[in-house]
Amino acid sequence: MPTARPTTMDSPVITTTDLRKVYRSRDREVTALDGVDLTVREGEVYGVVGRSGAGKSTLIRCVNLLERPTSGTVEVAGRDLTALAGRSDRAPAALRAARAGIGMVFQHFNLLSSRTVQDNVELPLEILGVSGRERSRRARDLLDLVGLSDKAGAYPAQLSGGQKQRVGIARALAGKPKVLLSDEATSALDPETTRSVLELLRDLNRQLGLTVLLITHEMDVVKAVCDSAALMKGGRVVESGTVAELLATPGSELADELFPVGGLPSGPDSTVVDLTFHGDSATRPVISQLARTYNVDVSILGAAMETFEGRQIGRMRIELPGRFEDNVVPIGFLREQGLQVDIAATAEQPAAVAR
Ligand SMILES: Nc1ncnc2c1ncn2[C@@H]1O[C@H](COP(=O)(O)OP(=O)(O)OP(=O)(O)O)[C@@H](O)[C@H]1O
Ligand SMILES: [Mg+2]
Repeated sequence: MPTARPTTMDSPVITTTDLRKVYRSRDREVTALDGVDLTVREGEVYGVVGRSGAGKSTLIRCVNLLERPTSGTVEVAGRDLTALAGRSDRAPAALRAARAGIGMVFQHFNLLSSRTVQDNVELPLEILGVSGRERSRRARDLLDLVGLSDKAGAYPAQLSGGQKQRVGIARALAGKPKVLLSDEATSALDPETTRSVLELLRDLNRQLGLTVLLITHEMDVVKAVCDSAALMKGGRVVESGTVAELLATPGSELADELFPVGGLPSGPDSTVVDLTFHGDSATRPVISQLARTYNVDVSILGAAMETFEGRQIGRMRIELPGRFEDNVVPIGFLREQGLQVDIAATAEQPAAVAR
């Protein structure tokens, strides 16, 4: 879990408003983005997850206008890129300049095989018109930053996947971006290498104050590095928030996947209850009060709790002996304590727990 989380004080650095993208071909139409409102705040690592075809790559490509949205707006670092894009297909100079402030890392690295590592990192600087000496100095610094100083003269074919992605990251940082976009940057890598590339992204986020918007299909990635996350389905964002907010949202699908609190009832004659702790309720010892006040044996089947700004938030699945009717009073007590209480399973409906 990252410790340096953004606060509500942080200003938005990426904002999409009612973003739509419809791909049209002669015989069909695909709505890849169906009104996406997304806010990524300065200095956070923001993860977008969702099934294949949900629109994740389309979204990230629209954020830097590699793909032109059908409608809606994209603002990055206070500039409306959609307005800069104009009508022609060729990106105007103002858009190209704005794009220099947005780095992009790709799943398959997209390195030029005929160029050395150093020359790959220099490429965007060449395009920006940075002079030869300054270019090579900056590229060396960047390679140092990603831990590849000794590979400057190597060719991409001589590198491992993780090393190639480090080159991709160094290249993405060449224009000194405020924002780094990453589309499945680690999905071609093994778990160990994935971890080291994620650590690098998080270090860069902290050291450089870089805002990172990353697309992934792996929940572990979100868990390891993200401050906030959004879930996309069918071209829409169906859930979003800081990891802490999601965790405190009853029924959040993302929170369920990030922090499963599985656990099955021990026998047929019991009631399984999901509790969501948030606000003041999380600071009081409600479970022990419950046990003491009603003299019930409470079993904790699973829990995912986080301490956030001195408060505990999270979810817990508990089991109470007896049927639902026998537990109306204790359940009422939990609700009175300000907890969100959902019945996961009862003796009559054990299947509900296997959601
Ligand atoms: N250039 C294109 N032309 C037509 N349809 C497209 C194009 N690019 C994407 N699509 C369609 O838009 C939808 C969203 O695609 P997108 O690539 O954004 O999904 P994704 O969430 O990134 O999926 P994955 O996890 O497989 O990468 C899909 O139905 C896809 O077929
Ligand atoms: Mg994709």
